[in-house]
Amino acid sequence: MRVLTAGESHGPAVLCLVEGLPAGLEVRKDRINSELRRRQRGYGRGGRMKIEQDEVEILSGVRHGLTLGSPVTLVVRNKDHANWSDVMSPDVVAEENRAEALSKRERTSPRPGHADLAGALKYLTKDLRNIIERSSARDTAARVAGGMLVQSALDVLGVEVRSHVLSIEGAAVSGEVSFDDMARASESDVGCLDEEAARKMRDAIDAAKKDGDTVGGEIEVAVRGLPPGLGSFAQWTLRLDGLLAQALMSIPSVKAVALGSGFDAGRRRGSAFHDQIGHDPARGFTRPSNNAGGIEGGVSNGEEIRVRAIVKPIPTLMNRLPSVDLKNLQPAPAAIERSDTCVVPAAAVVAEAMVRIVLAQAVLETYGGDSRLQLLAHFERSRELRASAFGFGENPKH
Ligand SMILES: Cc1cc2nc3c(=O)[nH]c(=O)nc-3n(C[C@H](O)[C@H](O)[C@H](O)COP(=O)(O)O)c2cc1C
Repeated sequence: MRVLTAGESHGPAVLCLVEGLPAGLEVRKDRINSELRRRQRGYGRGGRMKIEQDEVEILSGVRHGLTLGSPVTLVVRNKDHANWSDVMSPDVVAEENRAEALSKRERTSPRPGHADLAGALKYLTKDLRNIIERSSARDTAARVAGGMLVQSALDVLGVEVRSHVLSIEGAAVSGEVSFDDMARASESDVGCLDEEAARKMRDAIDAAKKDGDTVGGEIEVAVRGLPPGLGSFAQWTLRLDGLLAQALMSIPSVKAVALGSGFDAGRRRGSAFHDQIGHDPARGFTRPSNNAGGIEGGVSNGEEIRVRAIVKPIPTLMNRLPSVDLKNLQPAPAAIERSDTCVVPAAAVVAEAMVRIVLAQAVLETYGGDSRLQLLAHFERSRELRASAFGFGENPKH
């Protein structure tokens, strides 16, 4: 299964192409739309989110609410495009209109921390509009739509994915947050169910906004019901931890990824870090802790997947940082676009989508099949084989 996205931030739409889903999976537009709305919410988002009320259109691969086995094309229109149609037109612009069309939304002072300068050097352009349009996190709307689509493959196995916000700037949740509690966390505008921490998070965002500044934080994604044995240590490209890290690191503004208690692993002894193994005939193998975050040796071990990511403060600062105008190479304040102050809660929703994509790929690789029924049959047979090999009872978690 492959998931690709396309589209410019102020072009007509962003879109997601998903190839390789089995036939017969249930697809509900309302479920994708409510996930798109979750991505748009969050304390500290900017004016753009009020313009874009994202909604998905399905152009191919689904009939009467079920996948056909053919490529699925999802489209999310950019409502703001109406104000940009001349600037973003794919058509050749007559020479006499060219200067006006380009200058209208031209940006020439790269923002430190954004893709602007690296992109200009890569594509040999001084018109940063050519860089900003695709490097923008608007693309994450397409990823969220795709993530919710492929969740329908995970549903066949009963795999659930949730997330929450651990911290924003210095304000942090205290203690472990259970998978059940994460459902409530996602109702909060800062993705955090700890009211005291949530209040401090909002204060941090307000203070940064007042200073024309931005703030980052830390997020966590958890997965319940993932069978053991997904991913492989047989080849470095197949390790599930590596695939998750790549997918999460690909989220614009994510700068570090850790499995389980990985950020802490270098400071603890082996005896305190590794999760002891027990066997309960009814439930399967038991682990009193989950510092490994559900993956050992690049393979899922049947425990909850827990993966964390650090989101940097976003680069567009209203209090502009020093930069250089690429046209005359003189000092100039960095360009600004309409922008958010904090995207940490939104990044958590995007992280869920990326985790869904990687896990759906791993599930289809291991269990496969052309249809939902084949996928289910392969999964159930594997469970039976595991139960008989390892002496599990009726309802093992593995
Ligand atoms: C949901 C989401 C929304 C974002 N919105 C903005 C924004 O409004 N302004 C901004 O400067 N960066 C924003 N970013 C971050 C930039 O897209 C990102 O920093 C930039 O593309 C450079 O990539 P890098 O930070 O991974 O190096 C956002 C990121 C996410 C995940």
